[in-house]
Amino acid sequence: LLVPVILSGGSGTRLWPLSREQYPKQLLPLTNEESLLQATARRLDGLENVAVQSPIIISNEEYRFVIAEQLRVINKKSTIILEPCGRNTAPALTIAALAASSDEYDPVLLIMPSDHTITDTAAFQSAVNKGISLADHNMLVTFGVHPDAPETGFGYIQTGTALAESGALQLIRFVEKPDEATAQAYLQAGDYFWNSGIFMMRASIWLSAIHECHPEMLEACRAAWQQATIDGDFYRLDASEFAACPSNSIDYAVMERLAANNPALPPGAVVPLSVGWSDIGTWDALWRTLPRNESGNVTRGDVLLHACRNTLAFSGHRLVACVGIDDMVVVETSDAILVAHQKNAQEVKKIVDLLKLQS
Ligand code: GDD
Ligand code: MG
Repeated sequence: LLVPVILSGGSGTRLWPLSREQYPKQLLPLTNEESLLQATARRLDGLENVAVQSPIIISNEEYRFVIAEQLRVINKKSTIILEPCGRNTAPALTIAALAASSDEYDPVLLIMPSDHTITDTAAFQSAVNKGISLADHNMLVTFGVHPDAPETGFGYIQTGTALAESGALQLIRFVEKPDEATAQAYLQAGDYFWNSGIFMMRASIWLSAIHECHPEMLEACRAAWQQATIDGDFYRLDASEFAACPSNSIDYAVMERLAANNPALPPGAVVPLSVGWSDIGTWDALWRTLPRNESGNVTRGDVLLHACRNTLAFSGHRLVACVGIDDMVVVETSDAILVAHQKNAQEVKKIVDLLKLQS
């Protein structure tokens, strides 16, 4: 039995001003008419050789109506668990593992973030099938993407020898978001993958790993889940128990502690993904994903460009006109306009930080 777990609580600050705290990027139709969440929820449709349970969506309280509506539109029955506050991805996964398992069931969880695109669904499903047999053997399975740039916004996974006939590799170590010089060294070394953020493991394997690394997190999550209330289609975690939970990501909390020779944690495996994976974290990443015209521009809405190259210009309300600019991002919404250089796209979140300080 496979239980998909969709992480959907991030606020996507680097895609401001389109992505907002009240309406984050995973709920926006960024690449086509479907939102990233809807595309993620449908990514396992037609998966062969394994019974797939309806997904667990774990998200922020504020997004509940949009999420429920988007899933209804694609006809996806789901369990929606609501966090009263954000505690990052490690508690979210811990709650999902508690929700999915029982005394009789210890299902394999497939953890899927809802902030990237995958173009080759068939290849993704065959990677998932490879992962299942490894997860069945109590391994912590990661899905690695061949890196082609020294990105500092990703985790890096060093791989070792091949594991049997599966096409998977042994995980040697995991480094979350290295600095640029380190990322460059990993790129040149050749045995590192980017972490796609997709993971697979038995529920009990995650729970024992989190017990080993952060027992206080497991305790807080257990209390928040045991005292959860059911409200229509939603499971609401107990607010004060969950607020007491430490905040940490899957990557820092557990993955970085994995090592080929750490017997306290389960062995890690890396399934290579060659599926047209693309993280839609920043404006320049979105520009790279979308079809561009002969000048390399991507436009949406009421936009006029003259002598511009490699520029993304989105308009929601007013006419946006640009003359003679290259490698820029211009995004107009009803209450904010962003003008940024693509090479600084990671720093858009600084604006959101400034706005938070002001409010
Ligand atoms: N439920 C819930 N609660 N979901 C969350 C929360 C939370 O508090 N915070 C983030 N998420 C969701 C996001 O919506 C996203 O779908 C996913 O979890 C990953 O979180 P990000 O915040 O986007 O992580 P990241 O992009 O910085 O890094 C992760 O993804 C990279 C690949 O895109 C890491 O796993 C990296 O190692 C990885 O390379
Ligand atoms: Mg992300």
